[in-house]
Amino acid sequence: METHEKGFFTEENSVEVVTGRNANAQDPRLKQVIEVITRKLHEAVKEIEPTQDEWFKAIMYLTRTGHLCNEWRQEFILLSDVLGVSMLVDAINNRKPSGASESTVLGPFHVADAPELPMGANICLDQKGEDMVIHGRILDIEGRPIANAVLDVWQANDEGFYDVQQKGIQPDFNLRGVFRTGEDGRYWFRAVKPKFYPIPDDGTVGKLLKGLGRHPYRPAHLHFILKADGFETLTTHIFDPHDPYINSDAVFGVKESLLAEFKRIDDATRAHELEFPGWFWEVEYDFVLTSSKKG
Ligand SMILES: [Fe+2]
Repeated sequence: METHEKGFFTEENSVEVVTGRNANAQDPRLKQVIEVITRKLHEAVKEIEPTQDEWFKAIMYLTRTGHLCNEWRQEFILLSDVLGVSMLVDAINNRKPSGASESTVLGPFHVADAPELPMGANICLDQKGEDMVIHGRILDIEGRPIANAVLDVWQANDEGFYDVQQKGIQPDFNLRGVFRTGEDGRYWFRAVKPKFYPIPDDGTVGKLLKGLGRHPYRPAHLHFILKADGFETLTTHIFDPHDPYINSDAVFGVKESLLAEFKRIDDATRAHELEFPGWFWEVEYDFVLTSSKKG
């Protein structure tokens, strides 16, 4: 018996026997990851004490989850999302200094080649929904404007669907666009107020949510990716604090600092200037990017 071989497997020494077998692993990170997962998994099984039937049910659940995955659908990411793992990985990898805008999940609906538009453009191409103007500044941590910052925005329409979910119903690139700041770091564009929507809930993840007494909804939000030379790229959302699901986002993406005020404006002069037919929503939100220089 080699020194790292720990003898026969028993309920008591299961972790040592299994992890000891990996002593000759070439990749130290793989060895570490598998050691932690083995330890935690054995601990869970010892606490749960599943029956053989329950264990097989779990295997079949993961099997069905895998079968649902294809080029357009990733049920395992969804599973990670509803278990809070995606947000945890995001949090660990995006620890920010205080004062910087916080990140949240990217989500599955970003499109890489959305058109670059002039400031003020209306990204709503089908005139459906409640008009909204959104504006603010992109700043560094000292409050100085960042010129030439790129803001990439995408959102669902007022029925809770992204353009890519409704090909042929919504125009291509509806409710998405790319804007570039000038010297003043300011941005502004027009859109419609987004609405809450469910994550895909017709698969194994939806079944799990149902079993746990959870709904599948995400509160209304706009997605952003902000990029500028010398700064860390920020992937984030802003949320409507009055949304019915603001405190129960199915994927745990809401952070207090990402709540924006959606003000209802009834002002004929301003509506006329913005080329809106009547009242509209106004959102003001500043983004603060962190310098990418380390140390
Ligand atoms: Fe979204």
